[in-house]
Amino acid sequence: MKVLVTGAAGFIGSNLVHYLTKERPSWKVTALDLLTYAGNLKNISSLVESGQVRFERLDITDDKVIDGLFEREKYDLVFHLAAESHVDRSILSAREFVSTNVTGTQVLLDAAYKHKTGRFVHISTDEVYGSLGPTGAFVETTPLDPTSPYAASKAASDLMVLAFCKTHKFNGSVTRCTNNYGFYHFPEKLIPLFITNAMEGKKLPLYGDGMNVRSWLFVTDHCDALLRVAEKGRAGEVYNIGGNSEAELPNKEVTRMILELLGKPADLVQQVGDRPAHDRRYAVDTTKIKDELGWTPKTPFNEGLARTVAWYQENREWWGEIKSGAYLSFYEKNYANR
Ligand code: NAD
Ligand code: TYD
Repeated sequence: MKVLVTGAAGFIGSNLVHYLTKERPSWKVTALDLLTYAGNLKNISSLVESGQVRFERLDITDDKVIDGLFEREKYDLVFHLAAESHVDRSILSAREFVSTNVTGTQVLLDAAYKHKTGRFVHISTDEVYGSLGPTGAFVETTPLDPTSPYAASKAASDLMVLAFCKTHKFNGSVTRCTNNYGFYHFPEKLIPLFITNAMEGKKLPLYGDGMNVRSWLFVTDHCDALLRVAEKGRAGEVYNIGGNSEAELPNKEVTRMILELLGKPADLVQQVGDRPAHDRRYAVDTTKIKDELGWTPKTPFNEGLARTVAWYQENREWWGEIKSGAYLSFYEKNYANR
C-alpha cells in the first residue's frame, strides 16, 4: 500500500505519520511538506532517518512537480493535510490561504485523478460551517457559512473535492474536525501558545471576554478517525469529527486548567481586543462517523491536556527554537494593537 501524507511535517500531519507507522507498519508512507514556517522536519526526523518514511520537500501548488510525483509513485491513498491553518494569519493576509488551500488542493486532485489514485481523504475543519449560538451542533449537511479567510479557503477546497467525486466518480471523502491539541502543535494556536507563554512567565492574551467555546480533540483520536475514513469511508461523503461534550469548553476555562497544571498565577491572563468576526462557538454532531465507522474519541480532555502540558515541559528545546526568529515578527504584528 503506497500512501502519501501532505503537510506531514505540520502538527496533525506529523502525528498522523507516527500513527500510521505504528498502526499500519507495512504501508509505504511518503511524507510531503514544503516546510513553511509551520512545518518542522524534526517532528518526523526519527522516522525519516530510520527509513520507515520517505520525505519529499515539495510545494503542492507546483503542478508539474506534483504530477511527476504521482506519475512515479502511483499512490493507493492520499491524506491531504497541507494547508495554511491559522485564522489570525489569514486575517492579516489571505493570499497564501487561497494559493495553498484552494489551488494546492486542486493541483493534488488533478494529479490524483489523472494517475488513478485509489482513495483521497481531504482533511478539513468545522470552521467551514461558521459560528453556533449557545446550543446545537453542526451536522454534515449544515450550510457552509465561513467567517474567516482561513475557513473560506477550506470551504472552497472541500467543495472542489466533492465536485471531483461527482464529476469524475473520484474516490474522495472530506473530514471536518473540531480544534485539535497535543504534541508538536505550533505555538501560535491557543493551547501551545498559552502553555509556553506561561512557562516563560509571559502574559496569556485572551481574546474578548474569553467565553468563545471550542470542542477540543486529542490529535491521536483525530488520526484514528482519519484512518477509519480512509479504509471504510464512502466516496463523496463528508464526516464530522469532534470531541465529547466534556471537551466543549470556553477559552477562559481552558486557560485556567493550563495555569493550574503548570502551577502558574491567574494574573498572567491578559484580556485583549477581540479577533474580528470571532466565531462564538463550535460543536459538531458525530453520529455519522460513530454509526458508520465505529469511531468515538477516547481521550478525556483533562487527561489529554495534562499529557500535552507534560510534553511541552519535556520538549522545551523544540518550541524554544520556534519561538524566535520569524515567529517574533508575526507575534508583534498580531498582538501589538490589541
Ligand atoms: P499546520 O499549520 O501545523 O501544518 C500545515 C503543514 O502544511 C505545514 O507543515 C506546512 O509546512 C505545510 N504546507 C503549507 N503550505 C504547503 C505547500 N504549499 N506545500 C506543501 N506543504 C505545505 O496545520 P495543522 O494544524 O497540522 O492542520 C493540518 C490540516 O488539518 C489543515 O488542512 C487544517 O485545515 C486541518 N485542521 C486542523 C485543525 C486544528 O485544530 N489544527 C482542526 C481541523 C482541521
Ligand atoms: P486558535 O487556536 O487560533 O484556533 P481557532 O481560531 O481555529 O479556533 O484559537 C482557539 C480559540 O482561542 C479561539 O476562540 C481564539 C482564542 N485565542 C485567544 O483567545 N488568544 C490567542 O492568542 C489565540 C491564538 C487564540
